[in-house]
Formats: sequence, C-alpha cells, structure tokens
Amino acid sequence: MKETDDIEDYILAHIDTESEYLKKLYRDTCVNLLRPRMASGHLQGRMLKMFVEMIRPHNILEIGTYSGYSALCMAEGLGEEGHLYTFEINDEQEDFTRPWIEGSSYAAKIDFVIGDALILVPKMDITFDMAFIDGDKRYYIEYFDMVMKKLDRGGYIFADNTLWDGHVLISPPQSDKQSWGIKRFNDYIATDSRIEKVILPMRDGLTVIRKL
Ligand SMILES: C[S@@+](CC[C@H](N)C(=O)[O-])C[C@H]1O[C@@H](n2cnc3c(N)ncnc32)[C@H](O)[C@@H]1O
Repeated sequence: MKETDDIEDYILAHIDTESEYLKKLYRDTCVNLLRPRMASGHLQGRMLKMFVEMIRPHNILEIGTYSGYSALCMAEGLGEEGHLYTFEINDEQEDFTRPWIEGSSYAAKIDFVIGDALILVPKMDITFDMAFIDGDKRYYIEYFDMVMKKLDRGGYIFADNTLWDGHVLISPPQSDKQSWGIKRFNDYIATDSRIEKVILPMRDGLTVIRKL
C-alpha cells in the first residue's frame, strides 16, 4: 500500500499540475460531498484532458457529472468548436456543481444537464465523437448500447472503474450489483466485433473503446 502511495506521489510530482481552480474544486468535493473518491482527481483529470486533445472531438458526452471535476478537465482540452454535454441524475448535486461549472473559464463549452442520461440522450438530435461513461456501475451495458447508437464511426468511449478494485476477478455475492454490472459489461464488450478495446490498469481501470 505504502509503495502504491509512493508511486502515486511520484507520478503526481512529474506530470502537469492541476489549475488552482481544480485544486479548490477537489478540496470542496472532499470537504462537502459524500463519496469524494468518485471524483476523477489530478492524474485521471490530466489524462482525460490529453485524450481530448488527441481525439479533438466536436461533441463529448459524459454520463455522471458528480462535482464536475472530470467535466472541467475534458472541457479544458476542447478546441474552439468543441462542446461537452454532461448528465447528472442526482438533482441534489446541482447546487454544488452548477456554480463550479458556470464559474469556470469553460462555462460556454459545457451543457450541464440534470436528469437520467439513459432517458435524455436518446432524445437529443446530435451525435458524439467521444463519450465518458462514469455513471451507475449497474447500468454500464445500457450506457454502452445507448452511446453506440449516438457515436460516430471512429469515435471513442472511455469507461471508468472497469477493474472495480479487483472485484472483477472474484465471484461476488449476487447482492453486489455494482461488481456484477462491471463484470457483465467487461464480458459483453470483450466479444463485440464492432469495436476495438483496451483496458488501462490505471487507478480503478479505464477501458478505451473505439467504434470501427
Ligand atoms: C463516479 S461519479 C462521476 C464522477 C465524475 N465523472 C468525475 O470523474 O469527476 C458517478 C455519478 O453518476 C451519476 N449517475 C448515475 N446514474 C446516472 C445516469 N443514468 N445519468 C446521469 N448520471 C448518473 C451519479 O449520481 C454520480 O454523481
């Protein structure tokens, strides 16, 4: 554990720093929200920004805004024309998150929508060239199926937490719906020939998918 923490500290000391704004948001998330570990944080945030710079998407979809940390990092990487649509099902999150998004330098690039992405996104009249799936682990297959219908050919999906603290390696109790959600998702996409996929073992596992 100590070794893992040391490596994490080493990585953070050798990559780009977060902006002061993101540092403050992360601190506010830790102090005022339940389950702050859900926020992407420094390393994943820098990586998401870099992925956006590499892919240069026009429209990004995010499922699961929470405090807005990952949304702001992805928006940071967007070009002039790029836009991010981020969905949060928990309306109690709005009072915390909206001021952080609207007070940022990227407010004009972000649509922050309160509601269930599974219901709202299919009704939207746009397609996406990048998506970040980070909602309820029980519904990853549903998110994936929905996103595939809205994703341009050559578009990318990033699915977070796909190693779920190693729980993918065991047979969890049937009551552990989140672990089963992730395990079923990993099995489901493993044989899907419409996509290329790799699992990056960083943090809690990040699956990168490309629609052929
Ligand atoms: C892990 S957190 C997101 C963290 C954030 N993406 C980040 O990295 O900073 C997951 C969030 O997804 C939200 N969520 C769950 N199901 C959802 C759905 N169907 N549509 C939109 N948001 C959902 C939860 O309420 C929760 O706030």
